[in-house]
Amino acid sequence: MTAVLFIHGFPFDHSMWRHQVAAQSHRRCIAPDLRGAGNSPGPESPAEYTVATYASDLIGLLDGLQIRQAVICGLSMGGYIAFEMLRSHSTRVRAAILCNTKANADTPEAKRDRNVMAELARQRGAAAIAEKLLPTLLSRETFEKQPQVVDEVREMITRAPVTGIVGALHALRERPDSTSLLPRIRVPVLVVAGGEDQIAPAAGMREMAGAIPGAAFLVVPAAGHLAPLEQPAPVNAAIQQFLEQLG
Ligand code: MLT
Repeated sequence: MTAVLFIHGFPFDHSMWRHQVAAQSHRRCIAPDLRGAGNSPGPESPAEYTVATYASDLIGLLDGLQIRQAVICGLSMGGYIAFEMLRSHSTRVRAAILCNTKANADTPEAKRDRNVMAELARQRGAAAIAEKLLPTLLSRETFEKQPQVVDEVREMITRAPVTGIVGALHALRERPDSTSLLPRIRVPVLVVAGGEDQIAPAAGMREMAGAIPGAAFLVVPAAGHLAPLEQPAPVNAAIQQFLEQLG
């Protein structure tokens, strides 16, 4: 049975996948903390954080576990890293699940915002990043009906190491555009959007899925940018069906 490699987004850690790892406990699941996130140490220099260094860390992890091919499942920045794996390490990818992500690179304005956020992290720490990002991350329903999820996300961001936040912002700012890769993807792909995602809106994700040959597409109602954590049941069902079809 193919292993599944879960790749978290920014500024999160492996715990954002806890529902999916639990639901796939009959499979080999790998949900690491990326360099500078969660419990993984990371280099001091932001230049050492790029989608390429994250991807080669993950290939090193698969090598160490003697896993030749995995299904990769990435959320947002994890999706940008998944694109890098599809581009530079395609023989290691059996299939891909792309959650709450987009293929385009940052605009000049978005790049400037990354610099402002890195400065905020340096000056005021991860808690300030949590307060800034939270309103954009979760759906209205999650804020109204799942206060424990709001707390969980706030705590996850607040414990993120500042060096890793600043490094990830460098990686996000410098990531390449992956739009031209989409029609060249030759593995099965499932695209999962949040109906209320403000960062990777569902309409853009539908377009992205349409550019990938044969990709399946799902919009999860009442979910924002963290669909796997906000609405795990429909996300798990879609992942389960996708993995079953792979055999
Ligand atoms: C993420 O969740 O990884 C971020 O929203 C990515 C981004 O800001 O582009």
